[in-house]
Parts: sequence; structure tokens; C-alpha cells
Amino acid sequence: MGNKAADAVSSLLCCPCRCLFCGVFSCLFSVLTCVLFAAGLVALVLYLLFRPHIVRAAAVSADLTAFTLTPRTWILRHNLSVDLQLRNPNKRIELHYHGVAAQAYYQGQRFADTDLPDMYQCTGETSPPIAVAFGAGESPLVGGIAAAGFRREAAEGAVFSVDVKVTAHTKLKLWLIKVPGPKTKIDCPLRIHRRNDTADGDTPPQPPFQPTECRVWF
Ligand SMILES: *[C@@H]1O[C@H](CO)[C@@H](O)[C@H](O)[C@H]1NC(C)=O
Ligand SMILES: *[C@@H]1O[C@H](CO)[C@@H](O)[C@H](O)[C@H]1NC(C)=O
Repeated sequence: MGNKAADAVSSLLCCPCRCLFCGVFSCLFSVLTCVLFAAGLVALVLYLLFRPHIVRAAAVSADLTAFTLTPRTWILRHNLSVDLQLRNPNKRIELHYHGVAAQAYYQGQRFADTDLPDMYQCTGETSPPIAVAFGAGESPLVGGIAAAGFRREAAEGAVFSVDVKVTAHTKLKLWLIKVPGPKTKIDCPLRIHRRNDTADGDTPPQPPFQPTECRVWF
């Protein structure tokens, strides 16, 4: 009786691929091939669904209302906000971002961070700009090289190279199925002009912010 059950199970397992390997390979081998083939097919489908349609992100505006370095103590006083736009080019996959966190770096040093609310993104949708407001704050800048870099950029028209990074966990919704998605990382290397509200008429107009494509990876 035990044998009968085992036979039934093995014939059930062998069944889908048996015709391919009639009498040539053992059942075990055909089952293994079957499993590998199915796994490969799933991987291929996932690849075709995701890989060509990576989420796109761009910084569409930025406002640097304060960015100064105190002499000697090298404390960076800052007030930065950036508007990000995300685009989900997938036709079938909806995205839910959670645990969204943003950090701002200057000279490779993190000077500000903030958490953002969850975001939902339907298929093929460009999100309305997401305001990433780091708010006003102070942070020490470590090292003479970083301070020298700051002074150089301040002298050269006060355009600063600031890196804004965003990380988020994702959930993917495919029709009615929800699955945990990969962790998304966005990196926006920006050149932002420090706003100067006290500039007089003699100073040349400040250059507008250049919208910048960000790198996105998983
Ligand atoms: C920081 O800048 C924003 C505009 O981007 C402004 O509304 C806010 O008042 C500023 N905060 C401080 C403390 O200056
Ligand atoms: C703003 O512009 C004025 C006039 O050009 C200049 O004297 C001042 O140093 C500038 N302030 C900052 C923070 O760049």
C-alpha cells in the first residue's frame, strides 16, 4: 500500500515532463529539469516585467535658503529643500513605498536627514513633486579639505554640490497580488545655487535650478 502511494506520487511528479524524456532519463532527473525550467521561466517573466521598467526619479526643483560655514569651528548651517518626481513606467505594477528616508550629503558627509510619508504610485504614473524638506539645521563639517571645498564653491558663485539620497522599501501590487519588493535607492547629485534674498540690483540674476535625473537602483 505504501508502495502504491509512493508510485502515485512519483508518477504525479514525473508526469509533466515525462513525455520529454520518455525512457531516456530517470524520473528524478526529469523532475529536476522540470523544476529548473519552471524557475527559469519565472525568473525570465520577472526580469521582463521589472528590468526594462526601472522606476525613474528626477529632482525638479531645489531651494537652498541657507548654506554657510562658520569660520574656525566649521559648523555648516543649512536649510535645504528639494522636490523629487518619481515615474513608474510599469503598465501593470503599482508601487507602495514605505519607510522612506532622505539624507543630504556635502563633500561626502551627511549633514541632514528626514523621514518621508509613505507613497503610492499607480501604473504609468508620474507622481506630483514630493517635497523633501530637510529644514534648517547645523552640522559639523569634518576636515580641512571639505572646508576648503566649501570656500571654493562659495567663492565660485555660491553653487554647491549637494548629494541627496533617498532609500525606501517597496511593495509591488500586480493585479490583486501584493508582494514585498526590493529596497530602492535613489541618488541625486545636485548643483544648487544658494538663495540670496539680500542681493542688490548690481548682482547678476541667480541661475535657475537645472532639473537633474537621479540614479535609481535596487
Ligand atoms: C527654511 O527654508 C524654507 C524654504 O525652503 C523656509 O520656508 C523656512 O522658513 C526656512 N527655515 C528657517 C528656519 O529659516
Ligand atoms: C548676497 O548678495 C549680497 C550683494 O551682492 C552680498 O553682499 C552678500 O554677501 C550675499 N550673501 C550671501 C549669503 O551670499
